[in-house]
Amino acid sequence: MSSGGANPGFARGRRLRSTPALRRLTAQTRVAPADLVLPVFVKQDITEPVPIGSMPGVVQHSLDSLRKAAHEAAEAGIGGLMLFGIPAEKDPVGSQADAADGIVNVALQQLRADLGDELVLMADLCLCEYTDHGHCGVVTPARGGLRGQGGEMVVDNDPTLDRYAAVAIAQAQAGAHLVAPSGMMDGQVAAIRAGLDSAAFTEVPILAYAAKYASGFYGPFREAAEGAPQFGDRSTYQMDPPNADEALREVAQDLAEGADAVMVKPALPYLDIVRQVADAVSVPVAAYQVSGEYAMLEAAAANGWVDRERAILETLVAIRRAGAGQVLTYWAVEAARWLARG
Ligand code: PBG
Repeated sequence: MSSGGANPGFARGRRLRSTPALRRLTAQTRVAPADLVLPVFVKQDITEPVPIGSMPGVVQHSLDSLRKAAHEAAEAGIGGLMLFGIPAEKDPVGSQADAADGIVNVALQQLRADLGDELVLMADLCLCEYTDHGHCGVVTPARGGLRGQGGEMVVDNDPTLDRYAAVAIAQAQAGAHLVAPSGMMDGQVAAIRAGLDSAAFTEVPILAYAAKYASGFYGPFREAAEGAPQFGDRSTYQMDPPNADEALREVAQDLAEGADAVMVKPALPYLDIVRQVADAVSVPVAAYQVSGEYAMLEAAAANGWVDRERAILETLVAIRRAGAGQVLTYWAVEAARWLARG
């Protein structure tokens, strides 16, 4: 067949790809700096930031270095910060999580005073960084139908809920704009909502880590947050990777309990879940690109096996394309600068 005919009998998809300007104009999904949330770690009693070996470029902050990083984040125009605290002293119930002078609460106070409402200050609400056993709730000897894991101790759901409510109130008092429960206890959103409301924090929203999987991709985070479980693992409370319908149940339950927004975590291995949740609900859906996702791409880039910037931006647009509105990512500030540059 000769070229240039008016009706070649096939669609010319290449027409809209032929220049950068046409591709930009017709891009269906965009990532904006404001969509990105930077998770940060702040550690008690250090004066210099401590690099995290398995997450090159990410540090455990001192209070001062966190303040500086927060200013840079605001300057880059990202949407918010998710704070994790690493206390000097841990105990069985994670007392430092709701101590007024606990590291995360002091950091929240300082950042709120520094930045006001410029960034959304989110507090990760869990106990694993604060407990000496490293589990996300309080533990008791096995009883009822609960099986011990690597011992006779189990994570006890209902007593943990009281702890979460207390932590939520402490975080709101310290200046968190939003709390984000990540412990995967049943009933946690209802307990936290009731606690916040009883302390007159009716306007503090809850972003529920609703579909949080028991994932191998959290490995580097455990070094970063010093919160590895000392016995067993988290598979009696976090979701089992093969399950998708269960994610929709968890999301529906959290919304019924009063969640204002929901999260899927990890992100890249669970893009199908992000899409299903986004289709099912009409509240904001966030996705957390976790430490292992960060580490694997950094490792490949360090070897020269992928183009670092290109691959990172591709992951972010993929997460947005799957239906997430907000993306938690350790690349938030760097990516925001690339996006602003265009
Ligand atoms: C703790 C928590 C974890 C992460 C966020 N909050 C670890 C875990 O559940 O074991 C993981 C984040 C990451 O890997 O980047 N509840």
